[in-house]
Amino acid sequence: MSRKNNLEELAIFGGSSMFAIPKSTSNLLQPNFRQFMGYSKLFFDQHQYTNNGPNVKLLEQRLAAFHETAYCVTFCTGFWAIALAIVALALKGKTEIVMPSLTYRRLADIAAWVNLKPRFCEVEAATLAMSAATVRPCINENTALILGAHPIVNCCDVDGLVALAKEKNIPLLFDSVESVYESTAGGKVGGFGSAEAFSLHACKLLNGFGGGYITTNDASLARQLDSMRGFGFGGVNNVVVPDGINASLNEMHAAMTLASLDGVDEQVERNRQRYYTYRRLLPAIPGIRLLEFNERYRAGYKNIVVELLDEWPLTRADTISILNAEKILARAYYSPPLHRKPMAFPHIPTDLPVTDRLAEGYLNLPCGQLVSNDDIARIVEMLGFISANANQINDRLRENGVK
Ligand SMILES: Cc1ncc(COP(=O)(O)O)c(C=O)c1O
Repeated sequence: MSRKNNLEELAIFGGSSMFAIPKSTSNLLQPNFRQFMGYSKLFFDQHQYTNNGPNVKLLEQRLAAFHETAYCVTFCTGFWAIALAIVALALKGKTEIVMPSLTYRRLADIAAWVNLKPRFCEVEAATLAMSAATVRPCINENTALILGAHPIVNCCDVDGLVALAKEKNIPLLFDSVESVYESTAGGKVGGFGSAEAFSLHACKLLNGFGGGYITTNDASLARQLDSMRGFGFGGVNNVVVPDGINASLNEMHAAMTLASLDGVDEQVERNRQRYYTYRRLLPAIPGIRLLEFNERYRAGYKNIVVELLDEWPLTRADTISILNAEKILARAYYSPPLHRKPMAFPHIPTDLPVTDRLAEGYLNLPCGQLVSNDDIARIVEMLGFISANANQINDRLRENGVK
């Protein structure tokens, strides 16, 4: 069912859903199948499925060129890319890692895995991103590393963090998972700080089924990471680094990523059109503000994030429940923030009033390859219906005991 004429037709009150196929907030890129098969044939013909085969080598060259860095080292997941880069970079004998709380839900767990205590910093209300100003108060004699995580829309304060890390002589690793395609005033994302980390999870801009990679201009770090992902070996049965595990990317995932990379400009253009559709239609709905991409620099337009303003007449939780019932899989933006989650590992308890406030107000809306401009028009129409009928909806939710 498309249009809703009355409350009874809302799926949350028993009507049929607006969409038969769920509309997700994941990118869900499907690269060109023939290209994927072409790359797959390469490793298949050579009978080399893993251990630095032809696709992994080619992918690392192409990603380094894409990010304009000297080196790229691939991994089986973004998690292991980040964890091993932290192990390689963190100042020895120091115990804390600085990271934002309003970020990817597993980032603190990665730090815990490598035995560092997360110290959460605030973000700027205007950008939802950490900055030199929010990180500076968190630096102390125990700081081992700054983890510079970009938010979902636009980049964090790259120049400020680079300058701060240099001033304090602390390694800076960027979590650039959400900023693969972006550039900043200083150039393309990939070459900042000591290293930058990316994910090839199926929901990311580059879909490799799963995987991750690190870019860097530091030759010895690249060599160390290459060794760490392969048991720590530097030669046959010769362990040269102590923290090695088995975390290489396999050839099939590299083939998928290469096919994704071949189509990345087309994908970004498609994403841009979808973002423009939201940007054209959303201003008609009172109480919702679209987070705009900074078009002075390159953007990937991968995700759509909106702020629910004070005049939005429903709670975010109810808004999500209503949309989800329609198979519009809207999600709360990075909620709960990390410092509010139970942590069964050592961490620094912190008060973050700005993060607490921001964590209540934002929403991811459907995007990606499987969401058409027409779907977006229907999603915005749905938001308009909710807004126009909010009083009755609130009453009905209370009657039903939903609130
Ligand atoms: C910001 C961020 N960092 C790190 C990761 C971890 O990447 P992976 O899922 O490849 O382990 C993710 C995954 O969603 C992420 O969104």
